[in-house]
Amino acid sequence: MAPFIAQEKISEIQRSINIIDIVSDYIALKQAGKNHLGLCPFHHEKTPSFTVNEEKQIYKCFGCGEGGTIFNFLMKQESLTFPEAVNVLAEKANIRIDIIGKKEKHQGPNILFKANEHATRLFVDMLLKTKEGKRPRDYISSRSINDNSIRKFKLGYSPNRWDSILNLSKRWGIETELLEKAGLIIRKQDKCYDRFRNRLMFPIFDSQNRPVGFGARALDNSLPKYLNSPETPIFSKSKTLYGINLAKEPMRKNRKVLLMEGYTDVIIAHQHGIDWSIAVLGTALTREHVRMLKRYCDKAILVFDADTAGQKSSEKNLDVFIEEDFDVNIVLLPEGYDPYDYIVKNGKQKFLEQVEKAYDFFSFKTKLSEKKWDMSSISGRTSAIDDILSTVIKIPDILKRDLTIKRVAEEMFIDELLIRNRLNTLNGSTKFNGIKRRQTEAKQSQDQIAGKLNKTKSADYQVEMSILCLMINRNDLIEKVETEIGFDSFRNNEILSIAKNISEIYSNKGKVILSDIFPMLDSPEMSREMVDTISKQESLEGCLISGNADTGEKMLKECIQYIRKKKNRKSQEQAKKKMSDLYRSQGNKQEVDQILAGFHKKSITFHSFKKSG
Ligand code: CTP
Ligand code: MN
Repeated sequence: MAPFIAQEKISEIQRSINIIDIVSDYIALKQAGKNHLGLCPFHHEKTPSFTVNEEKQIYKCFGCGEGGTIFNFLMKQESLTFPEAVNVLAEKANIRIDIIGKKEKHQGPNILFKANEHATRLFVDMLLKTKEGKRPRDYISSRSINDNSIRKFKLGYSPNRWDSILNLSKRWGIETELLEKAGLIIRKQDKCYDRFRNRLMFPIFDSQNRPVGFGARALDNSLPKYLNSPETPIFSKSKTLYGINLAKEPMRKNRKVLLMEGYTDVIIAHQHGIDWSIAVLGTALTREHVRMLKRYCDKAILVFDADTAGQKSSEKNLDVFIEEDFDVNIVLLPEGYDPYDYIVKNGKQKFLEQVEKAYDFFSFKTKLSEKKWDMSSISGRTSAIDDILSTVIKIPDILKRDLTIKRVAEEMFIDELLIRNRLNTLNGSTKFNGIKRRQTEAKQSQDQIAGKLNKTKSADYQVEMSILCLMINRNDLIEKVETEIGFDSFRNNEILSIAKNISEIYSNKGKVILSDIFPMLDSPEMSREMVDTISKQESLEGCLISGNADTGEKMLKECIQYIRKKKNRKSQEQAKKKMSDLYRSQGNKQEVDQILAGFHKKSITFHSFKKSG
């Protein structure tokens, strides 16, 4: 039997949760008039077209067309089934739901989170409440980490045994197989044993504060220094950022993030109140990471260990910031320091002074390539420039790319034109073919979208769309549209049905706003078009506000004229046809005269329209 949840429960959840809070966990929202606006999490975009309507508790993306309620949002975002999404939200709202017909085994990823939760609790207890926890406790305090940080980061200790987790499987009610799946247990030739033994445990949480995995540090110099959870269905290093659960709110507030390299860096930073700090898990930075950051802020400040900075950037993994059009600065700490060392030794203020001195991306890149190549030789300089240009080529925004070229030319004392020529050469060379191909592909798909739009964008369509949008922008014109044009004149069925709905809502509530019609839109092209037209109209009104012309009315007048003209032309054509038919069939003269008279009259009206337009 499929899981069944009572409808009242669903409405109760819907009522007690604000969609703004849910969506804000994933993307940064800014208030824009009545709506909240942000970058759509479901498709790649640079200008926000994702709209959340708090009053209606719905969202709609005008870019890709996605839309719906909190349940739809969570289903899409977390790949959940409807009952799973209801479950998650019920828990958030503290509402108990009894799922009828729920199968125990079918718990999805939830059971893995449960396993990690149990393990986290076990490790915490081992650290704080046992004798054997004394050594790791001493280690922690030798690293200047205080009790508050231990609690905040839920640090723990995995005892020096092969079976502490294994033995708890029954009590937790989680099968060994699932503990293995969660990466807590290792199976070798039918023998199972604990993965983490005698280590300081750093549980790793996702943005929703669920434990997804562990980092485990040796308590002495034994190797490996860190042992991490393996990749599991809920843990992937390339998608995880340590500290994001604690840093996301501060990141949102500050609109920026400090990106570090290690667990201890983050803990010490937070302990000193620098709570917008997070770390990658000893891996290269990925596109997924950058997209995660985008949900919360506009700028990343990378604080590298001085020793690894060169290596990190030569891996080109920073270019992903450029490709994703995300502002990035780089802090270089003095030789021999990582953020942990620097903060412990010099304190918060000195560290923040270092952050203030961050390089912007291209200064950093220039500085590094000057180190890498012999700038006194011609070939060295050429290589350095190529090195930088290989990144410049990736800047998606044409304007930004252009400004960067100017700056690179200035900073490297090279004629701008030469740089541009060089860039063109590089663009054609095999070395950059991959990039070029990607850019061309992106361009092509954009063109395809544009092509699709243009096909539907006949003059008729545009006029009808303008009228529709005017009705929303200017409710006071709705009646005029009805009386002077009549909805029957709309030839596009989707527009027609929206127009009818608008008029209905208007006559019921005396008011219609854009968000009223969100749920009615089902084609993404349509919604994109509408926002486009509406914003154009609004900016027109804005521009002409100082003039005395009533822009809205003028726009409507033009539309009315267009449609009347069109109607006239149509009846003229019909008349012409009828006449020639008659002529051919040698019909009676009286009838021909009648048609001619009518034709003449319409012609006059037509010309008078033309003059007044
Ligand atoms: N790391 C890892 N496995 C290792 C070494 C490092 O996963 N064998 C990851 C960890 O996430 C670690 C980060 O890389 O936090 C940075 O490594 P490092 O600077 O060596 O560790 P710190 O976090 O600085 O630890 P400590 O301060 O204890 O030296
Ligand atoms: Mn370190």
